Amino acid sequence: MVEQTLGIIKPDAVAAGHIGDIIARIEAERFTIRAMKMVHLTKSQAEGFYHVHREKPFFESLTTFMSSGPCVVLLLERESAISHWREVMGATDPAQAAEGTIRRALGSSIERNAVHGSDAPETAAFEIGYFFNALERAG
Ligand code: CMP
Repeated sequence: MVEQTLGIIKPDAVAAGHIGDIIARIEAERFTIRAMKMVHLTKSQAEGFYHVHREKPFFESLTTFMSSGPCVVLLLERESAISHWREVMGATDPAQAAEGTIRRALGSSIERNAVHGSDAPETAAFEIGYFFNALERAG
């Protein structure tokens, strides 16, 4: 089934100059990029995005990191987009991520793991709506 997911190129990967590498991989994996923009989140915008993790011990550090510099957010579409993007990203912890995944190649810690992807259809709907309004999604 053709579906959509939200991808984020996180501040560590943007700062390290990997936007182009990651977008090339996204296209090689046959995703259609339906919308894309660079955003520098405020701390409270990062907290809103990651609100499901608000009770976790890493929440403060994660939201500080995610608001530390610009991100690139992408609305990605293809067959089984959610699971396929998660496969291409690899495990959350780059040290556990399989060879050939983005996090294995570009992540430096469980927090600074280069990319984000939605984990289910309900979270994809929330996350896409968080960054892209109806006009942008229609592009
Ligand atoms: P992401 O896929 O964006 O979802 C939540 C983020 O929290 C995760 O990637 C990591 O960047 C960060 N994080 C930091 N510590 C942990 C942890 N112990 N377990 C899971 N995620 C963590």
